[in-house]
Amino acid sequence: MILYQAKDYKDMSRKAANIISARVILKPNSVLGLATGSSPEGTYKQLIEWYQKGDIDFSSVKAVNLDEYKGLDKDSDQSYAYFMRKNFFDHINIDLNNTYIPNGLEEDEEKECKRYDEIIESLGEVDLQLLGIGTNGHIGFNEPDTCFAKGTHCVKLKEETIRANARFFEDENLVPKYAYSMGIKNIMNAKQVLLIASGKSKANAVYETLYGDIRPEVPSTILQLHKNVIIIADEEALSVVKEKGLL
Ligand code: F6R
Repeated sequence: MILYQAKDYKDMSRKAANIISARVILKPNSVLGLATGSSPEGTYKQLIEWYQKGDIDFSSVKAVNLDEYKGLDKDSDQSYAYFMRKNFFDHINIDLNNTYIPNGLEEDEEKECKRYDEIIESLGEVDLQLLGIGTNGHIGFNEPDTCFAKGTHCVKLKEETIRANARFFEDENLVPKYAYSMGIKNIMNAKQVLLIASGKSKANAVYETLYGDIRPEVPSTILQLHKNVIIIADEEALSVVKEKGLL
């Protein structure tokens, strides 16, 4: 694992955008695995700015997202499909036909998970998988569990995840209880993983990711087994690592 220390959220976002933009410049038809949430917002903003200046071309890029809430329509303003359009896709020249996200409205879990795994497979290798991290170490919506999920699956969200994500909803009761998520095997198959973390609430999860025992109870620890992982964490997110004298 390579760790880049960032000063703050802005610095983290800029560093992450630099790595993604380099990837797209070197390989214009890259397959990008993308994430939603607060962590990547600044990264997307920076990439949009560079696109507008003419520095990056997304016309041949394919994008496959990690997850989607079950029960939400792609046009609902809380859905991850909507988030991606609003925060990224609508501002760059990616072909929307080359963007993929689980269908939150599909009731048949088996059918949807199979469909999404087939899409991921048909795209070939994901060149770069961008990840945020949950306070409990979840990646995608792979929540703490007793085993690692392999492929796309339907997850019952943990109370702490529902609480953390309630800030995007009018009321905590409106946060969906289930989500479709890529599995750990899908994530581990990416050629390169780029994990970004900002803020004190992520400090313990970052410490566990870097130094914890590898275990499904802290899903991000599996990344220690991937041969090409970059972590960009800001000062607050590295505070536990520092307290323990490891930096
Ligand atoms: C989102 C996702 C989640 C988030 C994580 C952190 O697509 O897969 O794992 O990355 O919940 O969320 P934020 O960035 O909002 O703190």
